[in-house]
Amino acid sequence: MNSFAKVLPIAFAASLLAGSVLSQDAEKKVDNITAVTSEDGRYYTADGVPTYKIAPDGTIDWLTYSGFRRYHSECHVCHGPEGEGSSYAPALKNSAVNMDYYAFVDVVTNGRKKVDASHNSVMPAFGDNVNVMCYLDDIYVYLKARGTDALPRGRPGKREDKSDAIRQAEADCLGH
Ligand code: HEC
Repeated sequence: MNSFAKVLPIAFAASLLAGSVLSQDAEKKVDNITAVTSEDGRYYTADGVPTYKIAPDGTIDWLTYSGFRRYHSECHVCHGPEGEGSSYAPALKNSAVNMDYYAFVDVVTNGRKKVDASHNSVMPAFGDNVNVMCYLDDIYVYLKARGTDALPRGRPGKREDKSDAIRQAEADCLGH
């Protein structure tokens, strides 16, 4: 093998790496937090990703309130109260802000494992659990509100009413 053949792939790989770092920076500039549209009591970013909405007087949207309850029934045993993390599992209030929404959904649906000589870390798959899957956006927006500190620790206070559309979607999802 001549020396070019050895060097070229490395240079090529390095340029690919630089390219992916650049595109990650570009992605970070996308506003993953601010609600710009709403539909029947659900709020979305400019990219159509679910997000929270907290009014100037502190009133929170229904999904954020519902997510607070669902998180504390299904996730907090491993991830710690209020998304703060534990010695066993990461702080999801940060994950919800930093991870892509679809990646977040994928991990919850399909689970993830890091098990070897020095790790024993298992995120279960919740894809078959309607008490999680029917409230996944609720849990996600709640954690995002915690991650930006828009929502303080503690039981949330004033909230919007549950809309008819949210009530209907919930019944459909649960198969009622
Ligand atoms: C039995 C313990 C356990 C429960 C219950 C659990 N998780 Fe996890 N979760 C973990 C562990 C451990 C990890 C880290 C997995 C790894 O190392 O890849 C994790 C990772 C994650 C990640 C990836 C975080 C990141 O920053 O990469 C997400 C998202 C997540 N969990 C969401 C949830 C949600 C939402 C719930 C509740 C519906 C939940 N988990 C319930 C143990 C758990």
